[in-house]
Amino acid sequence: MPSPHADPRVCWRMPGMARPNVFEVDLGAIAHNVGEIRRVVGADVRLLAAVKANGYGFGLLPVCRTLQDAGVDMVAVADPADALVLGGGGVSLPVLIYGGGLVDAEFVGMVEEHGFFATVTDPEVADAYARFAAKQVKVFVEIDVGGERFGITDAGAPALLRRIHESPKLRLAGVYTHMFVPRAADVAGAAIRVQLARFGAAVRAARNARVEIPVAVAASTPVVLRAGNAGFNGIDVGRVIYGNLRSDTEFERHGMRIREAFAGLRSRLIHCRSLRADRGESVPFSARPGARIGIAPIGYSDGIESLHCGAALVRGRRVPVAGGANLEHLRLDISDVPDAQAGDEVVFIGRQGDAEITVTDVLIARGFDQPTRLSVAVGDSVPRVYRGGS
Ligand SMILES: Cc1ncc(COP(=O)(O)O)c(C=O)c1O
Repeated sequence: MPSPHADPRVCWRMPGMARPNVFEVDLGAIAHNVGEIRRVVGADVRLLAAVKANGYGFGLLPVCRTLQDAGVDMVAVADPADALVLGGGGVSLPVLIYGGGLVDAEFVGMVEEHGFFATVTDPEVADAYARFAAKQVKVFVEIDVGGERFGITDAGAPALLRRIHESPKLRLAGVYTHMFVPRAADVAGAAIRVQLARFGAAVRAARNARVEIPVAVAASTPVVLRAGNAGFNGIDVGRVIYGNLRSDTEFERHGMRIREAFAGLRSRLIHCRSLRADRGESVPFSARPGARIGIAPIGYSDGIESLHCGAALVRGRRVPVAGGANLEHLRLDISDVPDAQAGDEVVFIGRQGDAEITVTDVLIARGFDQPTRLSVAVGDSVPRVYRGGS
């Protein structure tokens, strides 16, 4: 096979560094954000941290260890498999498993054995836990006050809470709700107020019927940003912990200064070439004849189609993405950076010299409404590189 160096259009390849992609995560920002939230809601409010979807994409164990050191009280997962890896990964925080899974004997046995907190969303689920529990399962009840996903209705909640209170197999640890908050600022406040009122009424009705509810949790990120703990003794937040907020409005709200954990998405050029003038009809993207193309080893299997703004930084210059991604590769038009060569850093999100591509740039270019769409899009194939954490 001829050496690639025999071809004058090819600069050189990087043996052993075929896929030098990194997702930079600032765990220091996560610890800082927990501190800000804690300062605003106070020491007595129980802080539940949502770490579903691999810690919102940032990496379950490093995120949970950071949260533990930063003083959260509990982590909450959707996938029971996530709950099972935490203990072995040095995380001793209590774990809540959100609702929505199928509750069979095996699942209840696992929850009981590991001392996880389970979620009850309706009387049938409560009965399943009571039927399969050997001794006792600790449960939270999810109350649906508007989101129409999981949870007992606020009208039905007091009776369900009473039923759990009376079951020797179930121990009521608390109640939570996950509200739907519309994005538009003019309607968000009213939507929160009406849902908080429903939640408060259900909690009061149960307590009036002498059901003890140790923790009541109504606030996830959009509520905390507007109303802190909203008058209840727990909060259950994800996005604000990671700084997955919209930069136009949300980073300085309710006395908090929140920082982004998404610190960068970087790769390197592995190959550069000039387009052959006679191949126009077979080139899979539009580019000037003679344009110089650089290849980054990051493709749609790595999530790149959701993660670039149509450009990247090379040698401090913005260069356009040329055409669509391949499974593991992306082309950049580096014609305006004639000295670019294989090995050069490529920044899709982050700073390079004086230039920067922000998370917001990518959100706008992709038409996404919130940054979690980016952090969860980074494929498992892209190594997470952590800084500033525990
Ligand atoms: C039940 C529940 N609580 C809390 C959260 C955290 O929400 P946010 O990321 O908006 O704070 C989620 C996230 O989807 C959730 O499903």
